[in-house]
Amino acid sequence: MSSNVLLNVNGIEVIYNHVILVLKGVSLQVKEGGIVALLGGNGAGKTTTLRAVSNLLAGERGEVTKGSIELRGERIEKLTTSDMVERGVIQVMEGRHCFAHLSIEENLLTGAYTRKDGKAAVAATLEKVYNYFPRLKTRRTSQAAYTSGGEQQMCAIGRALMANPKMVLLDEPSMGLAPQIVEEVFEIVKDLNAKEGTTFLLAEQNTNMALRYADYGYILESGRVVMDGEAKALRENEDVKEFYLGVGGGDRKSFKDVKSYKRRKRWLA
Ligand SMILES: Nc1ncnc2c1ncn2[C@@H]1O[C@H](COP(=O)(O)OP(=O)(O)OP(=O)(O)O)[C@@H](O)[C@H]1O
Ligand SMILES: [Mg+2]
Repeated sequence: MSSNVLLNVNGIEVIYNHVILVLKGVSLQVKEGGIVALLGGNGAGKTTTLRAVSNLLAGERGEVTKGSIELRGERIEKLTTSDMVERGVIQVMEGRHCFAHLSIEENLLTGAYTRKDGKAAVAATLEKVYNYFPRLKTRRTSQAAYTSGGEQQMCAIGRALMANPKMVLLDEPSMGLAPQIVEEVFEIVKDLNAKEGTTFLLAEQNTNMALRYADYGYILESGRVVMDGEAKALRENEDVKEFYLGVGGGDRKSFKDVKSYKRRKRWLA
């Protein structure tokens, strides 16, 4: 494995409530400074994979029962969420989760609670977040409950940035947002990646948008990776086009039924 791999997920199995097997041997790698998309439909296991990485499974009565997760070579699957935050890994949960009764700025500041580098450093990060998200600056004193869905998504990402993360796990940033707002959010992600070197692992059902901004993608189906590749190759792949980009016709029921996919799979087996 090359040395710039930041995150290495190796054959993990995840079980909820001791009985529900959800991930059936998922492996993926995220390079330092990369943007990796985790794609797939409802219930494919995207959120579960992110929770396994950020150690949020325990609160959901879930656990990693097989395989390993390494961050820069260190085994992390037995650590806690706050251990992960300390190592610079933060998850932005699905559905935005701002504190409704707090202002945008108060929400952002809650993201800095683990920092020990003093008020001035936190204030500098807040300014930086406002630079990336000018909309948040405009709305800084507004109560989060009264801001738009797009502003709340930006607030959730901004709050994660307040911890100065190395890696952000973004769960469905496009959910419920109008296309141009989704684009705005993804542009900011790309900008943060390019200028701050922040690494992103993002779970998305919006395959089209995700593959335009990611450099690599993994497609999950029923708790397994069924395909992975450079974003460009996935965008041009006929099967991906048909199943996830809404191009082409056909009435196949599953990605697995695609002939060319089966052919490839035989080579992989
Ligand atoms: N806390 C839980 N307890 C039991 N089962 C769960 C739990 N969370 C998720 N699951 C199950 O695990 C499977 C994968 O769910 P997950 O949320 O990881 O999928 P997803 O790819 O994120 O889907 P979506 O696109 O709908 O968010 C689903 O069948 C789901 O019902
Ligand atoms: Mg999900």
